[in-house]
Amino acid sequence: MSARRLSGRAVIATHNAGKLAEMRELLAPFGIEAVSAGELDLSEPDETGTTYAENAAIKARAAARASGLPALADDSGLAVEALDGAPGIFSARWAGKPADFAAAMARVARELELRGIGEDRRRAHFVSALVVAWPDGHEELFEGRVFGRLVPPRGERGFGYDPIFLPEGFERTFGEMSSEEKHGIDWRSARPSPLSHRARAFLDLAHACLPPREG
Ligand code: IMP
Repeated sequence: MSARRLSGRAVIATHNAGKLAEMRELLAPFGIEAVSAGELDLSEPDETGTTYAENAAIKARAAARASGLPALADDSGLAVEALDGAPGIFSARWAGKPADFAAAMARVARELELRGIGEDRRRAHFVSALVVAWPDGHEELFEGRVFGRLVPPRGERGFGYDPIFLPEGFERTFGEMSSEEKHGIDWRSARPSPLSHRARAFLDLAHACLPPREG
């Protein structure tokens, strides 16, 4: 069965400014009017799931129910292989409230040092689960991953753990890339090859659920 399509207005169910900016950029060519959970004053549900997909569904469902509009949520995180996948679904929580990602990145470095994990063994990946939920309960799920390794922080761009993540095959961290480079999507190409975890999940979502691009 084919996926249900979005049109008109949709809520981006996040209070994270970095994610909101990326989702707005990704949605821009599709003529979807994106309003954020913050703009609608929606409350943030507790992320009680044990997977990215469950937490994304919790956020999308809550926003769809509260707004009466289809809602798109991302749940994402950084999984460090030598830390058994931590911080993973707890990536935002490692930064505390208010979020301090310098502290979260320092914690990752500290945990790696404590375990004696050298620079050559610092493999990690980002994961993004995107869920679109409609007010009638219908849902669609898309997941994306990007593999790479951790390095000492470089760059002021992006958000969260971007400065310590060096994607495989690249010489610049996500923190040193423009958002276009981090998405890696060239819409003019017949086969766009997205780079970031969010862009990879989004490209699948776009094929399944979005109207044709404008312009
Ligand atoms: P949550 O999905 O709201 O639970 O938060 C995910 C957390 O993972 C974010 O607050 C960031 O710390 C981290 N994260 C997810 N995606 C990215 C990314 O693209 N760059 C850097 N950090 C990310």
